[in-house]
Amino acid sequence: MERTFIMVKPDGVQRGLIGEIVARFEKKGLQLVAGKFMKLNRELAERHYGEHAGKPFYPPLLDFITSGPVFAMVWQGDDVVAHTRALIGKTNALDAYPGTIRADYAVHTNYNLIHGSDSAESAAREIGLFFAPEELVDYELAS
Ligand code: CMP
Repeated sequence: MERTFIMVKPDGVQRGLIGEIVARFEKKGLQLVAGKFMKLNRELAERHYGEHAGKPFYPPLLDFITSGPVFAMVWQGDDVVAHTRALIGKTNALDAYPGTIRADYAVHTNYNLIHGSDSAESAAREIGLFFAPEELVDYELAS
């Protein structure tokens, strides 16, 4: 069983897509174990996106991700990192396959609605940045 960090970005919140995005993960059979509606401060944004420091899109990315509320979540399931990335679609909106969240709702790489961890290691780091251990709810999904 694996966990991943998922965040509906400010554009997804503004466009009223939280419910649609959560529904796609729920219908897939993944398990929500934590959720938090919040606004990122600059420090958290810099820590979350630290690997992109120095890239041309980094300053606008920080401005954007701190511009409004986000919905941060932790999802759990077998191979959940790979499954959520498949549902989300490729970072570049033009490369995302139809049927994925980004292809269906986004036209711009900078405003691509949603972030999902790219590996189990990134997920552990990102979950630790956004959530205290006691905020992750341990429960069984009825099958
Ligand atoms: P995300 O998955 O949140 O990770 C980094 C974000 O930077 C990415 O989604 C995009 O929103 C943004 N970004 C903008 N340009 C690029 C790029 N060329 N490569 C990767 N990410 C980019």
